[in-house]
Amino acid sequence: MSDATSQTVYFYDRHPISSEIIFKKLRASRGHLDDLRPEELFPHDQDHYGGLAVTDELARGAQIGAGSQVADFCAGLGGTVRYLAHKYGADVTGIELTPARVAGAQELTRRVGLDHTARIVEGNVMDVPLPDASMDAVVSQEAFCHVPDVKKAVGEAFRVLKTGGRLAFTDWIAHQPLATADAQLMWEGMAIQPLRSIADYRSLVESVGFKVISAQDLTEEWGPILKERLAMYQRLREEARQAGTPMGHDAFHESYIRFVDLIQQRKLGGVRIVAVK
Ligand SMILES: C[S@@+](CC[C@H](N)C(=O)[O-])C[C@H]1O[C@@H](n2cnc3c(N)ncnc32)[C@H](O)[C@@H]1O
Repeated sequence: MSDATSQTVYFYDRHPISSEIIFKKLRASRGHLDDLRPEELFPHDQDHYGGLAVTDELARGAQIGAGSQVADFCAGLGGTVRYLAHKYGADVTGIELTPARVAGAQELTRRVGLDHTARIVEGNVMDVPLPDASMDAVVSQEAFCHVPDVKKAVGEAFRVLKTGGRLAFTDWIAHQPLATADAQLMWEGMAIQPLRSIADYRSLVESVGFKVISAQDLTEEWGPILKERLAMYQRLREEARQAGTPMGHDAFHESYIRFVDLIQQRKLGGVRIVAVK
C-alpha cells in the first residue's frame, strides 16, 4: 500500500461519518431499519459541502438525466451515487478506495433497494475499473485533494467518458501556497496532497484533452458551510465519545479547525469545474 493510500484509508476508517453511525441514528429515530427509503439517508450520507443542492448543480453541469451512465470518482458512502440514481434515474457506479466505506456504501444502497441502478465498487481513481468510452458523465466531490496524481485521475475520467461526455467536480484549491506547517497539518490530519490554484487546475484538466466549460470559485460559498460543518463534527465527536463509536482522530479535529480558518482567510478555497470530452 502506498503512503497516500494508507494515510487516506487511516483517515476515512476513523471518519465521523460512517455507515455504522448512520444506521445507529436511524435505529434510534425510527426504531428499526425495515423499508428504508433513499431520502431517509440523505440527511446523513452526503460527505461533501453544501448537501443535495450542490449535487443538483453538478448534475446540471454534467447534463445528467434518466438513463445517463454516470461514474462518481471517490464515492465515499455512496450518498451522491444513490441521489443521482434516485432523483435523476441515472445508472451510477461509484469508485471508492477505502474498503470499509465500500462495504458501508453497498449495505446502505441495498437497504434502500437501489442496488439495480446504483453500485459502489472498490478501486483507485488513478486506475479505474471501467471500460473506455462507457460513461456519459463523471462527477466527483471534494476528493481529488487526496489523490497523489490528479492528472492521472482526470485522465481516467477522459478515458471512460464517451465523446461529448462531461466531467463535473468540486475540489479544494490553494489561492496561495500553504506554509509548510499548514501543509503538514492537512496531510497528517486529513490526508491532503499538495493543492493547486484554479488557473493551474484548469490547465491540468485541459492537458488531458478536455475543453473546460466553467471553473467557478466556491471559496465565499464554502465559508459559512464549513463553519457549520466544523460545528457538526464537534457535535458528532461528543455524541461518539458518549456512545463509544469512532469519533475521528485528534489530528483530524486539529487540522479541520485550521482548514476552516484558512478558508476564512481565503488562503484555501474551493472550485467547481465542468468540462467536456
Ligand atoms: C470527502 S469523501 C467524499 C465522498 C463522496 N464524494 C460524497 O460526496 O459523499 C472522499 C472519499 O474519497 C475516497 N478516496 C480518496 N482517494 C481515493 C482514490 N485514489 N481513489 C478512490 N477513492 C478515493 C476516500 O476514501 C473518501 O471516501
